[in-house]
Amino acid sequence: MNDPGNAGRTLFRGPGITKKGIAIMKTRITSRRAFPLAAGLLAVGLFLAAFPCTWASEQGGAGKPATQDQKMQWFREAKFGLFIHWGLYAVPAGTWKGQPIPGIGEWIMNRARIPVKEYEQLAPQFNPVKFNAEEWVRLARDAGMKYMVITSKHHDGFAMYGSKASPYNIVDATPFQRDPLKELAAECAKAGIRFGFYYSQAQDWHESGGAGNTWDFGPDEEKSRNGAYDKYLQSKAEPQVRELLTNYGPVCLIWFDTPRMMDVGDRAKRFIDIVKTLQPWCLIDGRLGAAGDYRSMGDNRIPNEVVREDWEVPATLNDTWGFKSYDHNWKTPEDLTFKLVDIVSKGGNYLLNVGPTAEGLIPQPSQDNLRAVGRWLKVNGESIYGAGPTPYGEELGAYDPDPNKKDNRGNRIFLARKDWRCTVKPGKLYIHLFTWPNGSFELAKVDGKITKAYLLADARKKSLKVKANGTAWSIALPAAAPDKTDSVLVLNIRK
Ligand code: GLC
Repeated sequence: MNDPGNAGRTLFRGPGITKKGIAIMKTRITSRRAFPLAAGLLAVGLFLAAFPCTWASEQGGAGKPATQDQKMQWFREAKFGLFIHWGLYAVPAGTWKGQPIPGIGEWIMNRARIPVKEYEQLAPQFNPVKFNAEEWVRLARDAGMKYMVITSKHHDGFAMYGSKASPYNIVDATPFQRDPLKELAAECAKAGIRFGFYYSQAQDWHESGGAGNTWDFGPDEEKSRNGAYDKYLQSKAEPQVRELLTNYGPVCLIWFDTPRMMDVGDRAKRFIDIVKTLQPWCLIDGRLGAAGDYRSMGDNRIPNEVVREDWEVPATLNDTWGFKSYDHNWKTPEDLTFKLVDIVSKGGNYLLNVGPTAEGLIPQPSQDNLRAVGRWLKVNGESIYGAGPTPYGEELGAYDPDPNKKDNRGNRIFLARKDWRCTVKPGKLYIHLFTWPNGSFELAKVDGKITKAYLLADARKKSLKVKANGTAWSIALPAAAPDKTDSVLVLNIRK
């Protein structure tokens, strides 16, 4: 299972309509009466021939996935997505009544214990006139991202789309009056980027029955016990998820979060049923409170070793999800590229976040850093999209030999190594060199024979000298690295 992405693809990709098929159709156009029907069929055939995959189901449009592999296929191929945290919290942007509020920006209502009535006052101030869906989607494309997940409603309870289930939404409660999620859905469809929603199903600090707001509405356990929580779920959260899965075209995934009190009765299952009924191709993340389609790792928590299941790491570019005006702690493009490769080499996806401003702009440093990763991907994307995890592992690092040494979470210390990483596709190993070796790269073991070695950045694919010594191999490298961050060495393998 080194290459789940490709295993899924062979199963999934429909035959389309071949040239031979079209020829057969042509010869069958015999009688005059049959002509319009046959011409119609021919047109459909030509269309499908031009788009050889089963495009309707690829978009999540038709039928049901026959297997879990089929359903997961796009996710395994995609590897890199854009997360967007955008909401009323962009207005205070980390400061309340002149005081900087510590912690992540979208939690300001909770951290500053802002009463609902006061927080609601942000809505009439929210007018993101500089929002441009086309530009946001262009950024995702430039960054080499294949899917987008945006907050449709975060813990503050404010819907960022036109919702009939609650008037507390961007169309009905702000001077903006537009539905940015509609605009983004349309632009993503045009650009071939899959579109999904973050939805905070459990926490809703705006509603008396929602979880999380203890400063206005008292303890959560009480709400769970006295029926208020289920009433909130049934009157707001469930209807809103239905709206999102009905009015925005194919939704690639729903990203539920912080599953407080979801393990009681059929609370989680009710959401699963809604998703399965309305959009059977839509994935459910790992934070609903019941088994989802893939595992969501902790925020910014990249595992130390290969994890052999479908998974994703949500991650920030600085130290917040929602915009904070004074958080300038940006990760560098080199670090982001390393993290992307590191994650793919361990079998996962990277969902990387931007926090747009209250004007509707994505901070410039976020844009610059993402585009730098995109430039690297333009040259080296073959080693990322649809690639599986490393068959090795020693290159990732090792646990500290002293089992008693623990980090601040009580876990054993892992000493990560960062010189190289490996991603794979059938018949290929991609060696990502973050430290350029002097003269040659040595691989202790190859399962098979290296038939050719070249640098991915070399358009001419000039062969590099390889030398075998038993199962070990040595690949001669030029003196200078083609990429100062990560130069990818491609090894063609025959077993
Ligand atoms: C956490 C936070 C939330 C954020 C999410 C992103 O669960 O509660 O604010 O949206 O992580 O992964």
